[in-house]
Amino acid sequence: MQLSHDAFLAICRIVHDLCGIVIAADKQYLIKSRLEPVLHKNHLPSYEALVERLKLPNSLTIQDQIVEAITTKETSFNRDSHPFEELKRSILPELAARLFERKMSTGLAYPRCRIWCAAVATGQEAYSLAMTISDFVAARPMGGLSIDDFPILATDISQQALAVARDGQYTAAELGRGIGAEQREKYLKPKDGAWVIQPAIRRMVEFRRINLVHPLPDLGTFDLILCRNILIYFDETLRRRLCQNFYSALNPKGLLMIGAAESLYGVSDAFKLEHFGRTVVYRKP
Ligand SMILES: C[S@@+](CC[C@H](N)C(=O)[O-])C[C@H]1O[C@@H](n2cnc3c(N)ncnc32)[C@H](O)[C@@H]1O
Repeated sequence: MQLSHDAFLAICRIVHDLCGIVIAADKQYLIKSRLEPVLHKNHLPSYEALVERLKLPNSLTIQDQIVEAITTKETSFNRDSHPFEELKRSILPELAARLFERKMSTGLAYPRCRIWCAAVATGQEAYSLAMTISDFVAARPMGGLSIDDFPILATDISQQALAVARDGQYTAAELGRGIGAEQREKYLKPKDGAWVIQPAIRRMVEFRRINLVHPLPDLGTFDLILCRNILIYFDETLRRRLCQNFYSALNPKGLLMIGAAESLYGVSDAFKLEHFGRTVVYRKP
């Protein structure tokens, strides 16, 4: 179907408003390949008709269809591997020490170390975290720690991705991307030709729909936030706003992890950049 320059620009603006994603000026093919099925599904004869349709008040369903079509849910278990190795080696010990400090200083019931995994896609990132935490806790039987001390909130804009994540069921090919035999034996069970996350790991994660473009609901505060491989899709204004939101949502000394190919250079100087081995982490002072 023909995509005029004006319709392309209008759709780029709509996509940006809906989910913050910036479509480059030479990516007409991307709009065509991803949105043509939305046009067919809604019996719309042209991209201009789509733009007009979106001006109508009852356009929530079609907006969701656009978000689903345009978002890239690429992910894998233990993505980039070194952040998860560093979590086990140095980041989780630091967070565990902070838990004890809090307990000693407040004298209150055991406070928890909350983790937010923003833009989690189909769940692999949150479950990788949960498995890493479980290994960490199991390696310290006398440490007074439990996996319940590390609840994970995992959010995404995509309802389809969240449905897969909540289901916690993956194909052998998906496991092949990042899960070793040891983790598979410990944390997944075969079911109907696929693999299901064990209930104890599943229970560590709460999945919730959150659009990072919108003002954040009150989520409480966190000791660790992961927001990996999404900032690259956003413009500088949104990246700045998100960094402010993450800063506000972190406890003092809290840590922000972004994607291996991403940087906060020129976006935020509120955080202190630290290297944990090969992993770059941003700390709230
Ligand atoms: C490339 S995946 C990254 C997944 C995971 N963090 C990782 O690194 O493997 C990007 C995810 O961001 C989500 N996303 C895109 N725009 C979003 C928004 N405005 N708010 C929340 N999530 C968004 C997409 O649905 C997608 O699941």
